[in-house]
Amino acid sequence: MFRKKGSLILCSMFVFITWNAILVLLLRGRPAPGPSGVPGQEKGEVGQRPTNDVVGDVLRMADVFEAELELQKKILIQIKSHQSLWDPSNRNKQKVVAAPEPVIPILVIACNRVTVRRCLDKLLQHRPSAELYPIIVSQDCGHAETAEVIRSYGDKVIHLKQPNLSDVAVRPEHKKFQGYYKISRHYHWALNQVFKTLSHSSVVIVEDDLEVAPDFFEYFRSLLPLLKSDPSLWCVSAWNDNGRDGYVDPGKADVLYRTDFFPGLGWMLLGEVWEELEPKWPASFWDDWMRQPEQRRDRACIRPEVSRTLTFGRQGVSLGQFYDKYLRYIKLNAEFVPFTKLDLSYLKEETYRNNFEKEVYSAPVVTYEDVKQGQLKRPGPFRLQYSSKDSFKMLAKNLGIMDDLKSGVPRTGYRGVVSFMSRGRRIYLAPPPGWMKYDRTWS
Ligand SMILES: *[C@@H]1O[C@H](CO)[C@@H](O)[C@H](O)[C@H]1NC(C)=O
Repeated sequence: MFRKKGSLILCSMFVFITWNAILVLLLRGRPAPGPSGVPGQEKGEVGQRPTNDVVGDVLRMADVFEAELELQKKILIQIKSHQSLWDPSNRNKQKVVAAPEPVIPILVIACNRVTVRRCLDKLLQHRPSAELYPIIVSQDCGHAETAEVIRSYGDKVIHLKQPNLSDVAVRPEHKKFQGYYKISRHYHWALNQVFKTLSHSSVVIVEDDLEVAPDFFEYFRSLLPLLKSDPSLWCVSAWNDNGRDGYVDPGKADVLYRTDFFPGLGWMLLGEVWEELEPKWPASFWDDWMRQPEQRRDRACIRPEVSRTLTFGRQGVSLGQFYDKYLRYIKLNAEFVPFTKLDLSYLKEETYRNNFEKEVYSAPVVTYEDVKQGQLKRPGPFRLQYSSKDSFKMLAKNLGIMDDLKSGVPRTGYRGVVSFMSRGRRIYLAPPPGWMKYDRTWS
């Protein structure tokens, strides 16, 4: 745009000089009128003969003036139409657009499920740009059929194969957890590929049984600047552990939260955090390891009100029962929220914490019976208090939200508080005021 501005200035200068040149010509020696009174017919006589036709001269000069004014007017209109480029507030916007957009690779963790096709189809369907979101499928397990499915996508995806297919030596009582050891080894290898071999600076990790929402890419892109700038955050997740139909507010698909619980299931990680985790990456159960205070170090993740991923797989290493009870009912967001155009500054740590505490602890306290029997007449929100591990578990189970705790942190919890909808009312399942820290013996 500076080039455009420059060319406009040049253009104006050119007109100005031309105008002066015309004036000089007119004053020094104008073309004399011919016998017919039509000017310029006797070019050979230019500057040779004075004239007495003063009125005619003035009229001709007026004509030239008029044409010149017309030209000036046209240029002014043109300048006016480009005025938005001169406005300093727009200039900043233009600069932001001009900065190169960061590339966010999507790492798909695959093994032996041919249904990875559903995951890839959805990613490709909603992906707004192949350049900005390269899809890297990392395959473990050496499963030929799955490899064939991935290969069928040709150069739309990058197909990596984890080379070490040997069994992991585990102690006898962990024999049944062999699968978890292999997953941990695979993650370790695949993340090294993304950050070390391919030199990316961020990644969104998706497992082969996840389906993504239409605004999945938009969601992560909008939160990358916040994740990079805020050291109290260490991940962005697309998942709400209590995101079942009836437990979320579908009218609040644009609302995001901080959570102390690492949700996984479609999540963004930065290279710096990988550098920190990689040297001590665990042999198994990497997700619960991430949830330990030694790794989390009081950092939070961002999660949405309505999930941007849905898990459709039920075989594999995780328990089918768990899937049937909770995961299969998670509501996938359907409408596109233009997150990159929204103001997300409310998620900054101090702002968020202050507003959150005010909101939760100014909400009236209600009993479990009030909530369960639908006796809450006002619109809410309401606060339901728990004071021990057992009371948390009892309330959570009876209200239909996740009742497990990892290293003392409840799923979706922020400073001990779990926020969810029940019978159309916002409920905060919260510890007493003055909460200080999690008790890792609560599990
Ligand atoms: C393959 O993985 C096993 C278990 O993680 C490990 O002990 C072994 O060293 C690995 N082999 C190679 C060649 O990296």
